[in-house]
Amino acid sequence: MEWAVNDLAERDLYKLLVNTVLPRPIALVTTVNAQGRANAAPFSFFNVFSHAPPLVVLGIEGRAGGEAVLKDTMRNIRATGSFVVNLVDRALVEAMQVCAIDFPGDVDEIAAAGLETAPSRQVIAPRLTQSPVQLECRETVSLSLGTRDRNLVVGEIQHLHIRDGIVDERLHVDIDKLDLVGRLHGADWYVTLRDRFQAPRQTLESWRARQAAASAKPEGETR
Ligand SMILES: Cc1cc2nc3c(=O)[nH]c(=O)nc-3n(C[C@H](O)[C@H](O)[C@H](O)COP(=O)(O)O)c2cc1C
Repeated sequence: MEWAVNDLAERDLYKLLVNTVLPRPIALVTTVNAQGRANAAPFSFFNVFSHAPPLVVLGIEGRAGGEAVLKDTMRNIRATGSFVVNLVDRALVEAMQVCAIDFPGDVDEIAAAGLETAPSRQVIAPRLTQSPVQLECRETVSLSLGTRDRNLVVGEIQHLHIRDGIVDERLHVDIDKLDLVGRLHGADWYVTLRDRFQAPRQTLESWRARQAAASAKPEGETR
């Protein structure tokens, strides 16, 4: 099947994209508003974009329904120029989902989710102590794209926190101990890192050697 984007309703395009570009890492983003109040919300239109400079990107939509209004995360990034990406492990999934609830303004969603914050080293936004990886970021640029207050936020990582016991002295990361989750298809499916395989990257020489070995095999032999 194929579609020209212009022939798809917005909702259908969303469904096709979020159910095929999989899995997506999840950033539980913490920010603070101009009055100093902290906020946390999950975003899976998220990734690390480069290491030099160390950039992350977030895709933040406007609030659904009626007149477009910025989500608190976007409003706070505009107000303070900073945010923290807290990666989500299996133990944090339930709290992450509480942070996605559209609470009335007087509810402290970080407390409601049972999460604890600590001051960051280099940015005003706080970080979540229960997250295994916390990336303190300064907003580099935010692009308002399309309609309804969609924003692409680019942030530069200023400071990394990784829970003790996950990285050894040679900076090897134990990804079993990280136990991160990614967002999968549908509204509520997630994936862990437990099913994996190794596919060593090839050089031109090793690729040529494999080709030569394959063509030297007798007729009918497949492996
Ligand atoms: C796993 C997950 C991923 C999400 N990813 C995004 C996203 O990439 N962009 C977005 O605008 N909203 C996303 N949301 C919805 C926001 O988290 C939700 O609108 C939240 O209430 C925004 O909170 P805020 O107003 O405090 O910023 C996601 C929700 C969940 C549960």
